[in-house]
Amino acid sequence: MTLKPNQKSKSSKKNQVEKMFDSISFEYDLLNGIMTFNSHKRWKQNILNIAKILQPNNALDIATGTADIAMNLGSLPNCRVVGVDISEKMLSVGRQKIIKNNLEESVLLETGDAENLKYKDNYFDLVTIGFGVRNFQDLKKGLKESLRVLKENGTLIILETSIPENRVIRFFYSLFTRTYIPLMAKIFSKDKSAYSYLLDSAELFPCGIEFKNILKSVGFSKVQIKPKFFGSSTIYIATK
Ligand SMILES: C[S@@+](CC[C@H](N)C(=O)[O-])C[C@H]1O[C@@H](n2cnc3c(N)ncnc32)[C@H](O)[C@@H]1O
Repeated sequence: MTLKPNQKSKSSKKNQVEKMFDSISFEYDLLNGIMTFNSHKRWKQNILNIAKILQPNNALDIATGTADIAMNLGSLPNCRVVGVDISEKMLSVGRQKIIKNNLEESVLLETGDAENLKYKDNYFDLVTIGFGVRNFQDLKKGLKESLRVLKENGTLIILETSIPENRVIRFFYSLFTRTYIPLMAKIFSKDKSAYSYLLDSAELFPCGIEFKNILKSVGFSKVQIKPKFFGSSTIYIATK
């Protein structure tokens, strides 16, 4: 696997992202926990807390992967959730978790591409995307699709890695990501190159105000930025 974050050959990037997540699907949850010291669970809980206030009746979790966010949303009263992902193997791990947690009634996982969603216009109250947007082949196309399927005044919540603004923190963040994460990947992963792609793409991906401006440029309004853990991840809340 030699996937590059800014790969020019567009048709193969999506294909390679799909293959890469297929290849790490069984270890994904374990490594996600090890690499973030389980902070990813807290950030996903933050998304749930925002959703509780919004009280959605139907939600779409894009790039749902192993369905953590979809399952959280599925625990809300009267909320039906669809989780969509291009990696069938990530979905397969997610489906097992849904059965284990008795959430089959409220959460449905489907294969699908964020950039070509099959859902109707103005359909969902809430769309969430956790650690997914930086893997999109065409970021703006994916965000426009999220906008299209949201109802008027509906909310998009994005959780994505970001780079700390403070130089000292950024130095330690860089040291950590360039030593601890490759070491953990070496010990626990079958596909080490997948983790170097994930690191490189995190460093290159727009964050903070830059990402807010992209959300506004595709048509979202009232974008809020909520940095998490010294800005190593960020939650963006945008309104249609
Ligand atoms: C880092 S995982 C995140 C999984 C989950 N949302 C989480 O927060 O743990 C990224 C996921 O995005 C999916 N993905 C990447 N590009 C996609 C696209 N164009 N459409 C749908 N899913 C996509 C991958 O298959 C993978 O499961």
